[in-house]
Formats: sequence, C-alpha cells, structure tokens
Amino acid sequence: MAVTINTLREYKQKGEAFSVLTSYDATFAQIVSEAGVDVILIGDSLGMVLQGHDSTLPVTMDQMVYHISSVAKGNRGSLIMADMPFMTYGTTEAALENAAELMRAGAHMVKLEGTGWMKDTIHALSERGVPVCAHLGLTPQFVNKFGGYKVQGRDEKHAELMIEHACELVAAGADVILLECVPAPLAARITQAVQAPVIGIGAGAETDGQVLVVHDMLGMTTGRKPRFVKDFLAEASSVKGAIEAYVAAVRDRSFPAEEHTFKA
Ligand code: KIV
Ligand code: NA
Repeated sequence: MAVTINTLREYKQKGEAFSVLTSYDATFAQIVSEAGVDVILIGDSLGMVLQGHDSTLPVTMDQMVYHISSVAKGNRGSLIMADMPFMTYGTTEAALENAAELMRAGAHMVKLEGTGWMKDTIHALSERGVPVCAHLGLTPQFVNKFGGYKVQGRDEKHAELMIEHACELVAAGADVILLECVPAPLAARITQAVQAPVIGIGAGAETDGQVLVVHDMLGMTTGRKPRFVKDFLAEASSVKGAIEAYVAAVRDRSFPAEEHTFKA
C-alpha cells in the first residue's frame, strides 16, 4: 500500500520509527522505494551532491521539476517529498505557484526551510491542498546567515524558540517537521511537543523518523563526513542491501547511535 501522510501519523502514534532517504533519479527511487523506505526526499542537496555547488542556493525550480518527474517514475509507493528551492517561497503568492508546479511534477508534499515567518505561507498551502514539511534547525539555505553549517539550538533560549516555532508551524498546518543538526534532547522535546511526525538528521534517535542523503549512507561522501552519517554499504553486499539495513536500523533505533548524535 502506498505511504501517505496518514501512514506517518500512524507510525508516530504507535512509536514506530520510519525512514526517509533522498533520491534524484528513477533508478535510485525504485531501489529506495522497494527497499522499504517510507518517504523519498528530492532534496535541494542535489545542488551539492549532483551539481558540485558548495551550497544548495543555486538550485532552480526547473531542475527540481526535472528530478521530481524522474523520481516519480521510479517510485513504487513511497511518499514523495520535494524541497522548494531558495527564495521560491519568499512570499505566499510565490509559494503557492511554485508548490503547485512541484506537485504537478509528482511531489506529494513540499518542504520549506525557516522559522515563524513561514506561518501564513504554510497555512495558505495547507488550506489549498499542499501538505508541508517545515525544516528547522540547521537550514542549509541560511548558510550565509549562519556563517557556516553549524549545530543549531545549543543554548536554552534558542532551543525554546525552536520549540515555539515548531508548535506554531504545526498549528498553522505543517504536516511534518524536519530537524537538522540539533542536540538530541531538544529534538526529543520537539517530537513530544507536536502531534505532527518529526523527521531528524543529526538530531538523535528519538525523532519519529530519520533521513539521510542516499550518497552519504552508501559511503559516497566527498569532503568532510558529517558526524551523523553512517556508511551502510560497508557491511552490505549491494546498494539495495545497504538501504534495507538502513531501514532496519532506523526501525529498531540502532541508528542513529551516540556517535552520530549531538548531545548539547
Ligand atoms: O536537501 C536535502 O537532502 C535535505 C535533507 C538533508 C534533509 O534537505
Ligand atoms: Na534540502
């Protein structure tokens, strides 16, 4: 049966962890989907992983549409989440138009990076039939404001603000929250605070779901390897086997381990 937003809500209610991986093409999408990954993310990480840029900012709508339509063809029942590129949701009007284009290409949900300011936009999208994932914490489109890729929410004031934003955005209509590079105790607090499923990357084992960039979990990280990355191909004999091992490790919460987690 195809994964829907209801499937993710059921996982949260039952306390069962679900898995998410990026894919950018039909072949990966099919293998990832057949390996039992619940959500496929067409991340704007493709700007770095596929295009070689040093940030996600140059990714365009046309490029997202191209990759989404490829992934949609390979998909075998996973939920397809797509990133809205940098500054394509700066106003609510732009967000509605651009989200519609991603949905027409085959996305089932769009992901936006930001904080409280996204409230009205998320509400407008949600009211018009576009499910939204709100990405908080280390939001890579903000790399120039952050002055680098740094763990977010380390001090209590910032942590409380992030909890507040997550609650506000869910109240506005966000169906899913994604937390990137936040201390595990903060991710656990947010996961408990909101009814919506919470996906984590570098956010500890207590979120409802986990996500990785597929190239990273296949040991294809170029440059510095982030703390939260594990190479699942190292102990598998095929790409499909590695992805199945990831799904199993997420499900039994053996991944992420302490070594992949930021404590505070
Ligand atoms: O673009 C991406 O791949 C992402 C994940 C790392 C969460 O946003
Ligand atoms: Na992204």
